[in-house]
Amino acid sequence: MYDFQTNADAPKSVLYDDLLRAARALVADEPDTIANMANIAALMWQFLPGLNWAGFYRVVDGGLILGPFMGKPACIRIAMDQGVCGAAATSGETQCVEDVHAFPGHIACDGDTLSELVVPVFAGQGADRHVVAVIDLDSPLTARFDGEDAKGVERLAQLMEICFSA
Ligand code: SME
Repeated sequence: MYDFQTNADAPKSVLYDDLLRAARALVADEPDTIANMANIAALMWQFLPGLNWAGFYRVVDGGLILGPFMGKPACIRIAMDQGVCGAAATSGETQCVEDVHAFPGHIACDGDTLSELVVPVFAGQGADRHVVAVIDLDSPLTARFDGEDAKGVERLAQLMEICFSA
């Protein structure tokens, strides 16, 4: 049994340190990528307040396919030139969207979503380095995510690299 203690009132720096520590412990000895994505989705859901969706899309055959997540059922396939997820996967850059209605091409999987953070996960070295997945967080609050969230989830994405490189 895993029983990680969380404190939604803690400063974000503490929240992300705790989240990273728990994530490291969970993926350390487990080579299965799907199991690791599933547990990380559950951890984000448990540790980060104000979310209505948290999970992964994987890059498969030049598009994005739904991976493990927490929240309502979501769009299964997303083209690389679509939505916030496509923008993160194509550019390789974190997308922090304060108001999804102002983002051209945003895909509304859950009508409650008002803001979104999408962080690319990379694998490979040097010239072979490429985006293998994105971490997607949705919130029913406007401007739920800031630079500190982006940094925290980027640390998580870095940790996930070993899961995709194994
Ligand atoms: N809103 C995302 C689609 C995925 S769902 O939010 C789970 C997008 O615009 O890419």
